[in-house]
Amino acid sequence: MRSSQFQSDLLQWFHKNARVLPWRSHPTPYNVWISEIMLQQTRVDTVVPYFVRFITELPDVSALSQVEEDKLLKLWQGLGYYNRALNLKKAAKILMETNQGQLPSEIKHLLELPGIGPYSAGAIASIAFGKAVPAVDGNVLRIMARILANREDINNTKNKKHMQEVMAQLVSEKEPGSFNQAMMDLGATICLPNGEPKCSECPIRRHCQANKLGATSEIPVKIQK
Ligand code: ADE
Repeated sequence: MRSSQFQSDLLQWFHKNARVLPWRSHPTPYNVWISEIMLQQTRVDTVVPYFVRFITELPDVSALSQVEEDKLLKLWQGLGYYNRALNLKKAAKILMETNQGQLPSEIKHLLELPGIGPYSAGAIASIAFGKAVPAVDGNVLRIMARILANREDINNTKNKKHMQEVMAQLVSEKEPGSFNQAMMDLGATICLPNGEPKCSECPIRRHCQANKLGATSEIPVKIQK
């Protein structure tokens, strides 16, 4: 696969078809952080109004670090997984005490904050800080498995690691945030699970081995535990 052609096919599609989402208009580190934590376990459509309200009520790290727990949980009510909200406040306090209220740009430091795992760290570093790092979630793994016609178990740790390494090589150096968000949008709207991908609309189908082999309904392979 030629990574520069893969990147330009994907990015060209994204620039025309990106979903309009409130955290994309002002991708400040704070906005990107809050959106990525909300999006960890909740669908985009559900997150949108919660995100807008949260940012209006708590516009920065300082406000978040001081919010009453009652108010915080009210802002989160309906999103579930309340630990996410409590971790946000904990992290905001740490940032106020140790980093003048600024989010760090390095993956290694992002990972030290409560609530931020490898996926969110990659998303924040690439979208908010322009670092050429991947953000690999289940959607991205599915796309990569199809691109590579990878028939190993998608949940196998070694296989996941392999696909993460391929992604790390593929990420655009110039537009890593758009590249990662393009993969997210592609996974949500075109490279759908359960044998229903819309390959005829896919901007990267010419790079896709599963498409070439007519095997998109068989890939990814998930071994039930
Ligand atoms: N899912 C997780 N992060 C996302 C983002 N930044 N845009 C769209 N979907 C996402």
